[in-house]
Formats: sequence, structure tokens, C-alpha cells
Amino acid sequence: MAIRIKLPKFIKESVCAIFVALVILMLSACSSKNYDPNIITNGELLYVENCLSCHGVNLQGQQNWLNALDEDGHRLAPPLNGSGHTWHHPPEMLSEIIKYGLKSIDSKYEGKMVGNENLTDEEILSILEYIKSVWPENLKKEYETNHE
Ligand code: HEC
Repeated sequence: MAIRIKLPKFIKESVCAIFVALVILMLSACSSKNYDPNIITNGELLYVENCLSCHGVNLQGQQNWLNALDEDGHRLAPPLNGSGHTWHHPPEMLSEIIKYGLKSIDSKYEGKMVGNENLTDEEILSILEYIKSVWPENLKKEYETNHE
């Protein structure tokens, strides 16, 4: 004969609520595994120090970047906020461009995107995580699906 323990309703409800909360917690921990807040904060600091002067405080790029050139006749810095074409490049290529400059993919390149060889690979990864963190959610998802 089965023993049925009758629990008060409020206990059943709170057990249920705790269970739901745990599931939500686990799901959010999974989906944000690539967006560790410490990595992003560190990436943001490095961005401010090394990239902001050209790519802008909101990663918006330089004004009129598509059409205008700077005083040396070089192209202007594009946005990194998801509206440019950064997200078409795989992460390995972006790290390469950031570390060794555009020269790494175009040996004749003479423009302003020079390398940042003073940064470690980890620092570059954290800058990339910061850059990705400002992209719209759908773009982030698409990028991760394409480059996982
Ligand atoms: C002196 C200005 C300057 C600084 C500083 C600078 N960039 Fe750039 N960056 C550019 C320019 C200009 C381009 C466009 C290259 C071209 O077409 O000549 C570019 C291109 C890029 C690209 C390729 C863009 C794309 O959409 O494919 C990435 C990624 C990038 N920069 C990231 C960074 C990061 C990260 C930093 C800091 C570590 C940084 N840049 C610092 C000027 C700069």
C-alpha cells in the first residue's frame, strides 16, 4: 500500500517555485557561458585604452566612415557595434587583425589599423567578448552558431 504524505499546499508551492528558479538559473548560466561579466569588463577597459580613440565611445566608428577618408587619405575606422561588417569575419581573423593589424591579411595595407602586439591573446579575446556583448541579441546568436 502506498504511503501518501499530505503536505500543506504552501510547501508544495514553494518546492515548485524553488525548482522553477533553479531551472531558470541553470538555463541562464548556460546561455551566458561566453559572456563572463569579468571578461567583458576587462575587455571594455582594454578597448577604452587601445581602440576607443578611433572606433568611438559606443563602437560606432568614425563619422562618415564609409565615404570619407582621413587627412592622410586613409580609410576611417568602421563601427564595431554590429552595424559594420566585423561580424562577417570569424573570430580567429578578428584576433589576427587586432594583434597584427590589417597587414596580416593584406600585405600591402598601409592604413591606420595597425597591430596591438603589446596585448596578449587573452586580452584580445576579452576585447572581442566586449565587442560582441554590445551586438544585438540576434546577431550574437547567429555569429555563435556560425563560428562555434
Ligand atoms: C588609429 C586608429 C585605430 C585604432 C587605435 C584602432 N583601429 Fe581598428 N581600424 C581602424 C581603421 C581605419 C580600420 C579600417 C581598416 C581600413 O579599411 O583601413 C579598422 C579596422 C578594424 C577591424 C576590422 C573591421 C571590420 O569590420 O572588419 C577590427 C576588428 C578593428 N579595427 C578592431 C580594433 C580594435 C579591437 C582596436 C583596439 C585594440 C582597434 N581596432 C584600434 C583604425 C583603428
